[in-house]
Amino acid sequence: MAKQEDVFKTIIAHAKEYGFVFQSSEIYDGLSAVYDYGQNGVELKNNIKRYWWEAMTMLHDNIVGIDSAIFMHPTIWKASGHVDAFNDPLIDNKDSKKRYRADVLIEDEIAKFDEKINKEVAKAAKRFGESFDEAMFRQTNPRVLEHAQKRDALHQRFADAMNANDLAELKQIILDYEIVDPISGTRNWTDVRQFNLMFKTEMGSTADGAMEVYLRPETAQGIFVNYLNVQKTGRMRLPFGIAQIGKAFRNEIVARQFIFRMREFEQMEMQFFVRPGEELKWFDFWRQTRLKWHEALGLGNQKYRFHDHEKLAHYANAATDIEFLMPFGFKEVEGIHSRTNFDLSQHEKFSGKKIQYFDPELNESYVPYVIETSIGVDRMFLSIFCSCYEDQDLGNGDRRVVLHFPAALAPVKCAVLPLVKKDGLPEKAREIQHRLRFDFTCQVDEKDSIGKRYRRQDAIGTPYCITVDHQTLEDNTVTLRHRDSMQQERVAVADLERILAEKVSLNNLLKKLL
Ligand code: GAP
Repeated sequence: MAKQEDVFKTIIAHAKEYGFVFQSSEIYDGLSAVYDYGQNGVELKNNIKRYWWEAMTMLHDNIVGIDSAIFMHPTIWKASGHVDAFNDPLIDNKDSKKRYRADVLIEDEIAKFDEKINKEVAKAAKRFGESFDEAMFRQTNPRVLEHAQKRDALHQRFADAMNANDLAELKQIILDYEIVDPISGTRNWTDVRQFNLMFKTEMGSTADGAMEVYLRPETAQGIFVNYLNVQKTGRMRLPFGIAQIGKAFRNEIVARQFIFRMREFEQMEMQFFVRPGEELKWFDFWRQTRLKWHEALGLGNQKYRFHDHEKLAHYANAATDIEFLMPFGFKEVEGIHSRTNFDLSQHEKFSGKKIQYFDPELNESYVPYVIETSIGVDRMFLSIFCSCYEDQDLGNGDRRVVLHFPAALAPVKCAVLPLVKKDGLPEKAREIQHRLRFDFTCQVDEKDSIGKRYRRQDAIGTPYCITVDHQTLEDNTVTLRHRDSMQQERVAVADLERILAEKVSLNNLLKKLL
């Protein structure tokens, strides 16, 4: 097993052991790809959301927030294209009982022809040495040409079936090319069927005529359908944005990698409405602004990269992902999309309501264009958690597991530790905690040795430990221990609020963005 896989497993175990993430319904053997956040996880998650929300709504005069309902009128999903196009073609193997995406099975088969071609080229290159003309070989070698011709024929057949939405033909391709299930090794396949990723439920009782509704697969549509409400009631002038944080649901077929791909997850989305023709300028602005937000966390700028989309959705004219280096490679954490006026125009068409903006400078009305920034809270949580986890060798056979969270995001900001559980030290510790808890998440821990307590706080990423000892009772000073350096300094109790505020305040993080 690759080392990174082991590291990832250890991180998942740590997330459970220290109250960050639990499998949902665990005592009933769990529910696949659904997770609960524990006592420390919820604090970290809330801090991530606060960082995003304040960066969006407080640092931009022209961005406001909303909180729209999860249930929405079903026609919204027809208008947005989700009813017709938010699908994956599925096939099951009757022996292994495993489910696959039919398109992925066929794409893998197409890739095999390229592998065969590359093998022929590599063999010939070895045989001919310096004098090898690869381009000529690819154009003339009969075996290469045969493989290429078969690949192109399969590709064409596949593309035609996908474009025509011909599921029977997709199955026939799988049978004709004798594609086997990688697990059972058999060709005992079911028919291919379209699988819409949206969860459905019913609203109202059957007697009243229940209406079929969906659990939203993205929060964005709640923003689009409230565009007019916000623009009018907030007297917003273009360009302006609407931000929202909320749950989204997708019945993912292949759900894996812990909280990376879930069936219930949370998104932080912002739709920025602009004048037509100015969208690419704003796309560039949000691309840079969002990267800066990520980099300000100090996890290491080399861990981020853009992945610009070459193949764009038919309504988009630019799209990029911000990818983060997870233990399983660079993966998408956030998408930034220039969605033209597609969504608002569709809602105008399906609702019959005019969704336009009167531009006083141009003296004309139009449907605004939209730049979307869309980030998964859970993926952000995972990237921070993985990146901050360290199993640290302290020398002399001593180790500690520490989470180097950015201080502003840490679930617990400080822990007050009485050196011993007597002589009035616990009482003094409580007195200090009672002062600090108005501004900081602050724990008192008096169980076990001081060393063990430091380790426990390191393991949940608490940036500061405050130790109360006998000297504290005499001169009202304490020892302040820094999580990352493990350095200790003597400070006055009266200075604690100021010192901590300087170190752990979200404002410091937000100020880096300006
Ligand atoms: N409104 C646009 C939209 O929803 P998306 O690329 O499908 O775009 C945006 O999703 C972000 O939501 C992703 O970059 C990812 O962070 C998060 N996300 C999407 N599907 C997810 C899932 N199944 N589990 C966890 N996060 C997910």
